[in-house]
Amino acid sequence: MKALLIGGGGREHAIADAIVKSGINLYAVMKNRNPGISRLCKEFLVINETDVNAVVEYATKKAVDFAIVGPEAPLAEGIADAMGDKGIPCIGPTRKAARLEWDKAWARRFMKEHKIDGYPDFGVFDNVEEAIQFASELGDFVIKPSGLTGGKGVKVMGEHFNSVDEARKLMEDVVKSHKIVVEERLIGEEFTIQALVDGKTIVEFPCVQDHKRAFEGDTGPNTGGMGSYSDRDHLLPFLDKTDVEEALEIMGDTITHMNKEGIEYRGILYGQFMATSNGVKLIEYNVRFGDPEAMNVLPILESDFGELCMDVLQGTLKGAKFMKVATVCKYLVPAGYPENPMTGTKIDVPVEDSELLKVFFASVYEEDGSIYTTSSRALALVGLGESIYEAEERVEKAISLIKGNLFYRKDIGKKHLVERRVKHMKELRSGI
Ligand code: AMP
Ligand code: GLY
Repeated sequence: MKALLIGGGGREHAIADAIVKSGINLYAVMKNRNPGISRLCKEFLVINETDVNAVVEYATKKAVDFAIVGPEAPLAEGIADAMGDKGIPCIGPTRKAARLEWDKAWARRFMKEHKIDGYPDFGVFDNVEEAIQFASELGDFVIKPSGLTGGKGVKVMGEHFNSVDEARKLMEDVVKSHKIVVEERLIGEEFTIQALVDGKTIVEFPCVQDHKRAFEGDTGPNTGGMGSYSDRDHLLPFLDKTDVEEALEIMGDTITHMNKEGIEYRGILYGQFMATSNGVKLIEYNVRFGDPEAMNVLPILESDFGELCMDVLQGTLKGAKFMKVATVCKYLVPAGYPENPMTGTKIDVPVEDSELLKVFFASVYEEDGSIYTTSSRALALVGLGESIYEAEERVEKAISLIKGNLFYRKDIGKKHLVERRVKHMKELRSGI
């Protein structure tokens, strides 16, 4: 069997690993020559992943049995539809179903219209003054562009702006290219649930917590994600089983109502949630694996990933098994990331994959046997362990061997940060 992987980041390296482990012959298209993926591939092509015609042409030429899409941009461009037209099944939703991610205004309205629980109070506007009026009624609020912004478009009151005037300026910027979504600001702890969806059944992966801020202590600008962890029991230290059940109900209801509307969803659904004092709320949907979150869950998958892909395509999903271990993933990023990254600097990675440590390359490229940075996240290390702290120590040891002009967040998966989150959630739940 042959599969085509679309994308060349850390998430895609983890997907590539899982596919090859299933004995499937891997082909890839990616915009940078990812050294991890290129080593796992039979063959690859370096092209823009959103060039739908070129990607489909390559898939046809290589006669792949199915395609799997890493990033959201090709899905928003309709790559699953275009593959389907050529008879190539795709792990990844059609453009219509991918609207859950590429149109946040639509996703929110869909939940409201179908009375799916768990969304914050919101409004959608083309006009800044109307948006300001609604925001003032909300009090604490968040501003979002309705379309794709690479995870960096959301502005939160008290973090990114503090006054109505600052909010107005941000909105004036948003409205140039998007509708403005204004939402009640939710307070709580965030978590991610990724799931496989075969059109009707959803099979979830263990919960993960990502760290969006660039610097220690959750400070600095938002990034694609600096690292993430998952726990041995597949929950998170600040979550109860009922939180996860609530989140899964929101995801399940969404798929059911999409079906009723004639929109079939096949692929990976990523729910980003906030556990609040008032139950679990959906922050947003993504229509693909998370990056970094894919790197926490795929290495601990006990079921055969290739078989799960077939289940997604054939509508026969039943369940998936995972190792009972904790994981910690830390991204190393170029100095100056995300605002002023140093590109083209050489890095040295004398670390090998083992049972309990995985090295995933991201936005780096290989030239003459050396690895160089681009402007995005460079590589991720994932440790497995009996506890989050054991996994974290394993990652730290490996990072100490890596050379290059890179930085990372030491605090991800450390006791003080995890315990801070547990305490925060306890306080919120007890109404302190
Ligand atoms: P997104 O691009 O939707 O994932 O949002 C990026 C980040 O903005 C999230 O990880 C949250 O930290 C924050 N955020 C988004 N929506 C809200 C909200 N309604 N309340 C509080 N924070 C939010
Ligand atoms: N880690 C956040 C994302 O993949 O969108």
